Parts: sequence; C-alpha cells; structure tokens
Amino acid sequence: MAKESQSSNDLMERLVALCKRRGFIFQSSEIYGGIGGFWDYGPLGVELKRNVKAAWWEDIVRKRDDMVGLDCSIIMNPKVWEASGHVAGFNDPLIDCRKCKARFRADKVFSVAANEGDNVLVSVGVEADDQGAAQQAAIDGANSKTRRRLQQHADDLKWQIVRADKKPQDVTVHCPLCGGELTEARKFNMMFKTHTGALEDSSSLTYLRPETAQGIFCNYRNVLDTWRIKPPFGIAQIGKAFRNEINPRNYTFRSREFEQMEIEFFCHPDQADKWYQYWRDQRFQWYVALGLTSSKLHLRDHEVEELAHYAKSCADVEYDFPFGVAELEGIANRTDFDLRQHQEFSGRDMTYFDDETKQRFIPYVIEPSGGVDRTALALLCEAYCEDEAPDEHGVMQKRTVMKLHPRLAPVKVAVFPLVKKESMPEIARKIYADVQGSGMASFYDEKGAVGRRYRRQDEAGTPFCVTVDGQTLTDQTVTVRDRDSLVQERIAAEKVVEYVKERIS
Ligand code: GAP
Repeated sequence: MAKESQSSNDLMERLVALCKRRGFIFQSSEIYGGIGGFWDYGPLGVELKRNVKAAWWEDIVRKRDDMVGLDCSIIMNPKVWEASGHVAGFNDPLIDCRKCKARFRADKVFSVAANEGDNVLVSVGVEADDQGAAQQAAIDGANSKTRRRLQQHADDLKWQIVRADKKPQDVTVHCPLCGGELTEARKFNMMFKTHTGALEDSSSLTYLRPETAQGIFCNYRNVLDTWRIKPPFGIAQIGKAFRNEINPRNYTFRSREFEQMEIEFFCHPDQADKWYQYWRDQRFQWYVALGLTSSKLHLRDHEVEELAHYAKSCADVEYDFPFGVAELEGIANRTDFDLRQHQEFSGRDMTYFDDETKQRFIPYVIEPSGGVDRTALALLCEAYCEDEAPDEHGVMQKRTVMKLHPRLAPVKVAVFPLVKKESMPEIARKIYADVQGSGMASFYDEKGAVGRRYRRQDEAGTPFCVTVDGQTLTDQTVTVRDRDSLVQERIAAEKVVEYVKERIS
C-alpha cells in the first residue's frame, strides 16, 4: 500500500513538473513567490482548457434544441446570496493549531490511532479526504520500524480514526504538521468579499460569486420571456467562480479561483426523476467520450445523509486521481428550492403557466455542475504516459507522451522540414500555413534533430507530426506520424488538413 501511494505521489510530481516545463500550468504570480490556490494556464494549458469548454458548449448548447446559453456577471446584488443560502450557510469548519498557527478544514483532519493491546503503535493527526486515506497517511508517515510492526500485527490491531469536526469530547486531535493542540472547529464563510462603489461599508458589501448557478436562476424569467422555449429546457453557463478555500490543495483540484460548467435544467416536478436519471447518465458518458475511458471513472450516488437540504437526489462523477478518488461533477435534483427562494426574496413570480395543460407550477431543477479545471486535471492525469519510442537512429529511447484525446489536444498538428535545406522549409511552411488557415492549432519547428522535435510534441500531446523530407521534393508526399501508435503514413502534402480534420473530430 505504502509503495502504491509513493508511486502515485511520484506520478503527480512528474506531471506537475511536465506541466510547468511545457507550459500547461504555472503558479500564479510566481515571480513574487506565488499565492496559494491560484493558477495560470500557459500556452498549452489555455488551449486544452478552451478545447474542454468548446466541447462542452458544442455538446450541451449547440447540438441541442432544449438548451440555451448565458453569460452572467461575477458580482451580483448581494441579496442573491441571501436568497440562495450562501450568506448563512456556505461555511467550512475551520480549526487552527495553537502551536504552529497552521489552519485546516476540520472535515479534512483526522486523529488516527493504532493499538495492539495496551501498546500504542500510532497516534497522530493527519490531513486526508476520508478515513481510508487517513489510515494510509498515518502508515506512510510512520517510521520504518513502526511500519514493520503494523504489518506484523495487522490482524491484532485496533484502529481508531476520528474526524476533527465529529470527534467525541475525550479524543484529542493533533496538528498534522507539528503535533500541537488544535482549537475547536468554528464556521468560516468561503465567499470572497469586496465592495462596489466608493464607500467601503456594509452597504457596499458584495461577493465574488461562489457558483455560476445563481446567475442562471436570476435570469430564468428573462430567458422564458425572450426565447421561444418552455419546460423541459435548460440554461447553460461557463464562467469563473471563487471560493476562499481554507486549504487549497492537490494542484489545481481545489483552487480559490476556478471555472465551472453548469446546467440548470427546468422541468415539471412530475418529470424531475426521469430528467435526473437522464442527466446523471449523459454527463457520465460525456467524460467517457473525452477519453476518460479507463476504470478510473466512477458514478457514485449520494447516501441520503450526504444530500444537501434542498436536494432530492445527487450523484457525483468521480475520477481516480493519483491523490485519491475525487469529484469532477455533481448532478443534483435541486427541486424548486432555488426558484422558490428567489421568488420569496425578490417578490418576482417564478411560476410557469403551461398553456396546453392549463397548469401553473414552479419548475424543478436538475443541475449538472462540473469544473473546467478539474476536468483538465483529470485529462492530464489520464494522458500522462511513459513508454519507449525509436530515435532517428532507430534506437529505442524512453519518452514521456501526453495521450490526450485529439479533440482536446492543445496542438493538433506539428509540421517539420526534415532538414533546413533543399526547399524543405518552404514546403513545410506552406503546409503549416494551410493548417493554420483551417483554424486548427498547429506548430512549426525546424530546429534540432527530428527525433527531438517528435519528443517535444509527444510531451505537448500533439496527435500528428507532419515531416517534409527528400521524397516530398519528388512526389509531393509527406509522412504523418501518429503520436500513440508511432505509425508513419505517407500522404499527399495537399491532403494534410483533410487527413488531420477527419481524425480529430
Ligand atoms: N452549483 C452547484 C455547485 O457549485 P459544487 O459541487 O460546489 O456545486 C461544482 O461545485 C463543481 O465545481 C465541482 O464538481 C468541481 O468540479 C468544481 N469545483 C468546486 N469547487 C472547486 C474548487 N475549489 N476548485 C476547483 N473546482 C471546484
């Protein structure tokens, strides 16, 4: 077990290093030492993210006639967040270490003890997502002698694992960093506050939205009144959301600024269960279609105790990240909770009158809510691969390759002249211009050995490399190398755009 988690850590470290080295993801404001929970996407990362968002928009909005898009402001009237329940209830339990002053989310800190009879083998505080991960973290953190004893006495051990915010009075939870004493848990509201206008007092207090969903609820009437659409229909939005996470961690997974892709699907209450099932299955399949086809993708139904007070049912699409299984998207039946709240707080009518059935009702809402950054991170984790490929002398060399789905790959095709002479660069530049003109992201490279150029593109996840060589000068054909199979095909230079387009859609 310890070995497995070590190699997962290694994998994450290698992925993070590649993302920085190749320009997928940078730490925000790095030249000033960075800032926790904020990330910048470099030249490759921004293309990957744009491709994720474009795929979602195409599949969710453009290809459907029961869905429209929206783009709402980030700062809204603060009453929105009173109605939604965020002002009163968008809290995380917070604890501090009295000794080292470190701050933690109380639901992510566990006391882990392992006793063998009267002998205490382990008694530590650890940071983890769940009990299983907490036990593993305690084992990983133990010295080799203790680990050996834990293994030897595995059958006789009594484990006690307690979450800090649910601990009985008599259990002490220690600081995961210094072992010091922790304070009791208290509530911490995660909304970022700001002020609008010149005055900085309570009358000008506003918030950076913690979810895009509320903008959709506030515009539900506008859309109904201006668009020829009726329930069942959905409103979709992609946009930034902000949460002052106590402990941003796991790279971009838990950030303080991130992007959401949210659908609010409005339907008759009697049809809500049916639409919930539909979206639960559709959304899972969407991730499969993006290339997360491995057994690492799961669809988990929430237990009744897990459900938010307004939700009738909820399921998470989860991915098995190197740091553990975690949520990519939640699909929830939010009932009529949000529209009812906004009707009450704004005084505006949120009912819908169905001319055909002569029925008036407040629609129920099915909400599939996913994260762009988490999807991008899952795709990067899934794509990361180390294998071997022949260099220009045919000798097998280790290579790192990002096997991203061609639809999402930041660069679709790279074009090289084999050597910088005999008009090969001119022909290659002409092909490059054709690819650029077609709207596909492409890259031209004439520097260094061709094997090295292939390697750079493998790390960037470029599915196709086109090389102009000596034969091109006589028969106007080029080689196209497939990133994954390494097969090289000869095709007519003029067919490059058509060839690549066919294979990336
Ligand atoms: N409107 C419902 C809602 O916001 P959520 O489960 O809190 O639900 C939805 O968030 C999605 O937003 C998550 O599944 C995740 O993909 C993304 N997300 C939430 N918090 C995030 C964070 N701190 N960093 C990155 N992505 C986050």
